Amino acid sequence: MRFRLLAAVALLSLAACKQQPSSELPGAVNGARILAANGDEWLSYGRTYDEQRNSPLDQINQGTVKNLGLAWFADLDTARGQEATPLAIDGKIYITTAWSKAKAYDAVTGKLEWEYDPKVPGERGVAACCDVVNRGMAAWGDKLFMGTLDGRLVALDRKTGKEVWSVVTLDQSKPYTITGAPRVIDGKVIIGNGGAEMGVRGFLTAYDADTGKELWRFYSVPDEPGKNTADHLKKAEATWKGEWWKQGAGGTMWDAMAYDPELDLLYVGVGNGSPWNQYYRSQGEGDNLYLSSIVAIRPKTGEYVWHFQTTPGETWDYTATQHIMLADLTIDGAKRKVLMQAPKNGFFFVLDRTNGKLISAKNFVPVNWATGFDVATGRPIENPESRYYRSGKVWLGSPGPIGAHNWHPMAYDPLEGLVYIPAINSAFPFLHKPDWKPNKHGFNVGLDLAAGAMPADAKIRAGAIAATTGELIAWDPVAQKPRWKIKFPGAWNGGLLATAGKLLFQGNMAGEFNAYDTATGKKLWSFDAQTGVVAPPSTFRVNGEQYVAVLAGWGGAWPISAGVVAEPQGPIRNHSRLLVFKIGGKGKLPDPGPYNLPPLDPPAKTGTADQIADGARNYGQFCSVCHGDSGVGTGVTRDLRRAGSLGDAKIWNQIVIGGALKANGMISWKEELSDQQAENIRHYVINRAHQDKALGMK
Ligand code: HEC
Repeated sequence: MRFRLLAAVALLSLAACKQQPSSELPGAVNGARILAANGDEWLSYGRTYDEQRNSPLDQINQGTVKNLGLAWFADLDTARGQEATPLAIDGKIYITTAWSKAKAYDAVTGKLEWEYDPKVPGERGVAACCDVVNRGMAAWGDKLFMGTLDGRLVALDRKTGKEVWSVVTLDQSKPYTITGAPRVIDGKVIIGNGGAEMGVRGFLTAYDADTGKELWRFYSVPDEPGKNTADHLKKAEATWKGEWWKQGAGGTMWDAMAYDPELDLLYVGVGNGSPWNQYYRSQGEGDNLYLSSIVAIRPKTGEYVWHFQTTPGETWDYTATQHIMLADLTIDGAKRKVLMQAPKNGFFFVLDRTNGKLISAKNFVPVNWATGFDVATGRPIENPESRYYRSGKVWLGSPGPIGAHNWHPMAYDPLEGLVYIPAINSAFPFLHKPDWKPNKHGFNVGLDLAAGAMPADAKIRAGAIAATTGELIAWDPVAQKPRWKIKFPGAWNGGLLATAGKLLFQGNMAGEFNAYDTATGKKLWSFDAQTGVVAPPSTFRVNGEQYVAVLAGWGGAWPISAGVVAEPQGPIRNHSRLLVFKIGGKGKLPDPGPYNLPPLDPPAKTGTADQIADGARNYGQFCSVCHGDSGVGTGVTRDLRRAGSLGDAKIWNQIVIGGALKANGMISWKEELSDQQAENIRHYVINRAHQDKALGMK
């Protein structure tokens, strides 16, 4: 049953000659089946190990797409961000949803086959920087695998949804989370974790798919000197200063993985530093390996092979956890095995994936932290002003921590030779926080997070909104330049799928799910999804019919934290659903009716200027990451300016200090805030509500 490389290659060529339909392949998922996938199924997160998110199916194409319609839909039982890629195996669809739940459907009829709820405790929501999301499952044998927000890796029976085994992959007393999808290579289930905003040390672990036994663990950043046994960590020690291990140092590997079976290398994207501010992490010096790096690992042993660091000495939350994609490109007349990534720092990297050497790097959105990359050294040419901890002044950095590109998957089209990027134009006021000390709960980044709060000034708001946009960029990775672009008014748009039907599918924050011409970007089809779509679609074929499946459901880091810049048009309603389309589909979504927000009608202002100022500081530090910058809520988490509890100091206290809503994801802040400080936050929100009403916000 185990995947053998030779067998896989043999099967691959067999499949290529005979166009072997998937029904003749064995029922169990294995490496050979993933490699031979002819498009009838979607067996792995990025469809194939190279993570190209390109399907050879072409029944839905530029000619037929006008007849594409809803085959069926299923309502989900959470209303937070939906980010998962649907898997399609043997005529069934498997998804995960917010709060790490799993569901299985008949792909043709939409019948719910089973559902699974790992019952993640609501309090765990506070460890999640970026909403209580989950990006999907992996399949192997007759099992499915998923991570849970509280750090478990769970194996489910694919037929019944029953738990086969479950292991705790991390120290649950620390603010770790899992939101990423596992990958399985040769019977080894590989899973990372997140938490570098809060204070943890990143690692990746492999488990035996049959038993859940731990096989190896790879740490991305060194522990205290003397405690490191792996060579790559001993080597990394010299790139750090001070007592970096005290805040974990970060480097969580929360999303991107890709695998090259020929080279037998697993590529993993490493996250940001913990804390973000390098001054507090490493005395403001050193490369801090292997933060913000792409690392190549031997999947059998977890051994380090090579790395490429996209942002040495990272201090802006410039993770390299973004989508890693493998392809073979002809560059300067030579066929090259490349690895491509468009990480948060705004540069599109093309690496030689046999050795990690930089082939080229070019910015795909405007950036101001560096002017370019020196290909000979593989290092950025940094703008000295960008190290804000040296000046102590606000530095308006582009991209901001949300990135030039976040987790939303890209797609590759081998016909056009293009990589499509769901890109972001963003900026952020980075300001060093003097005398910073970590807290038990919430963001621990070493920055003054309240300093950048949006002022109650119509002009500044309009400027910030105009400067924050989304783009769909068709990027030529050989020429390192765009072929076409589409601009969106909002930054946070959906992941991508490209098909042999010369179509590119993407949802967006305006609630559209669109199909574009891969060559020109011309919009050929559009569906009203009634909510923001951030997840990437997948496609498959059952009984000769091609389907496209996508999760709709507004949420994730940007919607919950960015305030008025996230949703200039007002909150977006979250209607979380699985949507499945086919040619001739006649399904209709029910009329959503009007979106009746509670009015912006705050209670009388009673707080003093000092109380409001104190509330502003603590709101910025502890609350804004979930309830939105400056109190502007988003439709995903509560808009506190409209909250029922805003007018009642006692109820407010029972929630904020007493933890009355902790089961729903709102913990008690009594270890961080006194009763008076919590009350001052209420005064601040009341004040903001009055200011926003005066500005004409509804
Ligand atoms: C990790 C995310 C997160 C953070 C951080 C957070 N909250 Fe919440 N909060 C929530 C969620 C989720 C709910 C809704 C709970 C529910 O559905 O019952 C909530 C609800 C509330 C409510 C109830 C609103 C109502 O409808 O009356 C108040 C008040 C509140 N939060 C205040 C705060 C304050 C003050 C802070 C900062 C000290 C804060 N929250 C930080 C997630 C968060």
